[in-house]
Amino acid sequence: MPSAETARWRERLAAKGWLAQGAGIQTDGEHRLLPLNDVAPGSEEPMFEGHTIVERTALERGPQRWTQRLQPSLLAAIEAHLPTAHEVQGDVLLVKLEPEVEAHATPIAEAMLAQFPHVRVVCVDRGVTGPFRIRDLQVLAARDGDESTVTTVKEHGLTYTLDPSKAYFSARLSGERAAAMDLMREHSDRLQRRLIVHDPYAGVGPNLGLPLHHGVVAKAVVGDLNGEAIPFLEANLGHIIARSAHPQAHLEVRMGDGRAWRNEEALKGKADVLFVNLPHEGLEHMDDLMPLLAGDALVIGWAVIGRDDEASIAHQITSSFAVAGRISSVDVQATKGFSTTRTMVRLVVRATTGS
Ligand SMILES: C[S@@+](CC[C@H](N)C(=O)[O-])C[C@H]1O[C@@H](n2cnc3c(N)ncnc32)[C@H](O)[C@@H]1O
Repeated sequence: MPSAETARWRERLAAKGWLAQGAGIQTDGEHRLLPLNDVAPGSEEPMFEGHTIVERTALERGPQRWTQRLQPSLLAAIEAHLPTAHEVQGDVLLVKLEPEVEAHATPIAEAMLAQFPHVRVVCVDRGVTGPFRIRDLQVLAARDGDESTVTTVKEHGLTYTLDPSKAYFSARLSGERAAAMDLMREHSDRLQRRLIVHDPYAGVGPNLGLPLHHGVVAKAVVGDLNGEAIPFLEANLGHIIARSAHPQAHLEVRMGDGRAWRNEEALKGKADVLFVNLPHEGLEHMDDLMPLLAGDALVIGWAVIGRDDEASIAHQITSSFAVAGRISSVDVQATKGFSTTRTMVRLVVRATTGS
């Protein structure tokens, strides 16, 4: 095809599963040759729009791993300390580096950028810091000089625009979001109506994407203490609602401390579902949040606790709900390994006033 159409055709062929992996695109005068695999149809296929299929020897395969793109002498010197994992959010790659390889961060980032065509920016991730749980990021390499860390992430078919250097997001919790969706659908079925949901620690909004999309929510009150998260939160959930099964869903976005919501009469006693997504201190916020709950409410939270503390945490939560005059059933489930001594749990509390 004409070289100007290469990107469009590469996307179309990849979407059909007809693009040969690792064979490379070849030049033929003003034209480009895109490599087809064995399952691709012949040139009679209407989608090829009359383009011809020609036989060529495949270009040599590129390196299989990004490490093979490092200078052999550098690779030999630092191989034992090279990162074995990284996280990709949209087109931003985040990688943690051991101190032994920090001095070689640039060639490492350039090798990764060359290896992963969908990545635009490679950042070193020096960990999550401060109350907003934001990653300490530094851009190491960028394609075409575009160093912006604003990106768009797809999760469960929904898109979230975010900036990992400004507001918390973790792709690893997508399974938790799907689990929360199931719990909310059950609660909505039981109450036989759409839900009022409060998410005071909402970040850029991923807890409520699926429930809003599926029309389970009548009203979502969401917020965050981090002012930089707010524009992303508002835009992400606003877009999802507009294309959802219930575009009339009401969205209220507020910036500030979630514990202050109890001081607002309009919010008290309203939440059919309350998210407590503050894993390192959320349990301490629970008493302040309790006045927000409706008479028959579901609390979905996450907490990082000691490995053997599941039963005592369940007991502690039941007691604090009882003090507030609520009957509760508490389910504490480990979600993933955190460290040898700490674990992340999902807490599901069904709380009623018993009346
Ligand atoms: C672990 S993140 C969860 C974010 C989001 N729910 C998600 O799953 O991506 C916790 C969020 O709570 C916010 N936060 C921390 N302390 C807060 C407070 N006292 N009130 C409201 N938000 C707070 C942080 O800025 C952060 O965005």
